[in-house]
Amino acid sequence: MKILVTGGAGFIGSAVVRLAVERGHEVINVDALTYAGCLENLDSVKDNPLYSFEQVDIRDRPALDDTFAKHAPDAVMHLAAESHVDRSIDGPGDFIETNITGTYNMLEAARAYWVGAGKPEGFRFHHISTDEVFGSLGDTGMFTEDTPYDPRSPYSASKASSDHLVRAWHETYGLPVVLTNCSNNYGPFHFPEKLIPVVILNALAGKPLPVYGQGINVRDWLFVEDHADALLLVLEKGVLGRSYNIGGENEARNIDIVRKICGILDEKRPKSTKYEEQITFVEDRAGHDLRYAIDPTRIRTELGWRPSVTLDEGLERTVQWYLDNEDWWRALQARDGVGKRLGVKG
Ligand SMILES: NC(=O)c1ccc[n+]([C@@H]2O[C@H](COP(=O)([O-])OP(=O)(O)OC[C@H]3O[C@@H](n4cnc5c(N)ncnc54)[C@H](O)[C@@H]3O)[C@@H](O)[C@H]2O)c1
Repeated sequence: MKILVTGGAGFIGSAVVRLAVERGHEVINVDALTYAGCLENLDSVKDNPLYSFEQVDIRDRPALDDTFAKHAPDAVMHLAAESHVDRSIDGPGDFIETNITGTYNMLEAARAYWVGAGKPEGFRFHHISTDEVFGSLGDTGMFTEDTPYDPRSPYSASKASSDHLVRAWHETYGLPVVLTNCSNNYGPFHFPEKLIPVVILNALAGKPLPVYGQGINVRDWLFVEDHADALLLVLEKGVLGRSYNIGGENEARNIDIVRKICGILDEKRPKSTKYEEQITFVEDRAGHDLRYAIDPTRIRTELGWRPSVTLDEGLERTVQWYLDNEDWWRALQARDGVGKRLGVKG
């Protein structure tokens, strides 16, 4: 299959590109290379004839039309987005433009191309979204695909808007779409402003390990390579017009994630004091959602998919990857805003 992947230079997009090429798909990576984009994530495929790159901003509709015409893809996997909740609190404008207007442009460019090509039967537009559109849970309950949308941050509201647009383009124009809503990812190539890489890298640097609020916020952690595998499965086997929740079956409180990472580092990079002693509780994120949890019944029963990596195994692999790839993360730490405290505006 020839797949046009947007956001392929990002954390999850690059995992999708690497896996798709490994499985023999042709991939066109469409990415604007914002502060979060990193072509080094694709070093392992950059010389593969199945891979090509187009530096295109999804806010630029004519450039998208040209890209569709040039490559004539069989399918689209749309991951390009502004993705950091803390940045959305400080500067929501980019989130509205890329996540909402950019998705609108992608839908219109894909529709024009699909109609022009005679509405090929197998064409798919796969929109990749987040479980954050469902809002925040209390101590119990799980998000199903039928949970009402209740986004609470500029990031999740912009992603919710994009999900609505994608469904509307299916109902109104018949565009063949599938959607996925996924829980928090972690793993290799995670940009060094998100919780898990921040903790690993601050620990190694002897800096405080910042834990927002009391550290009791719960996320359902999914290893990024498992997510990429699920996304390719939904693209190929998902029912048109349907959404699938994807979770890691790995719920954990932030403080417990931080302690686990400290324990792994105590083993792998021992020093005279325990890494846990660097934990520092800091002012909470504005409007911090308490708990997310995914009910994975649909993807499990309809498509037979389950995550393969446990939290302990995934964290161990992730810490080892950061220990082995210092050149990669050092270069990114110099980028705009990385390492600064963001997202505390009330
Ligand atoms: N990270 C998570 O835990 C998570 C969980 C569920 C869903 N998602 C969704 O998965 C997708 C990818 O997330 P990620 O964590 O890999 O994000 P990321 O921030 O690591 O990567 C985003 C990529 O999109 C590109 N991009 C941004 N704006 C663009 C624009 N206007 N035009 C073209 N390219 C642009 C960036 O250059 C970057 O390469 C997003 O849609 C996100 O909402 C992420």
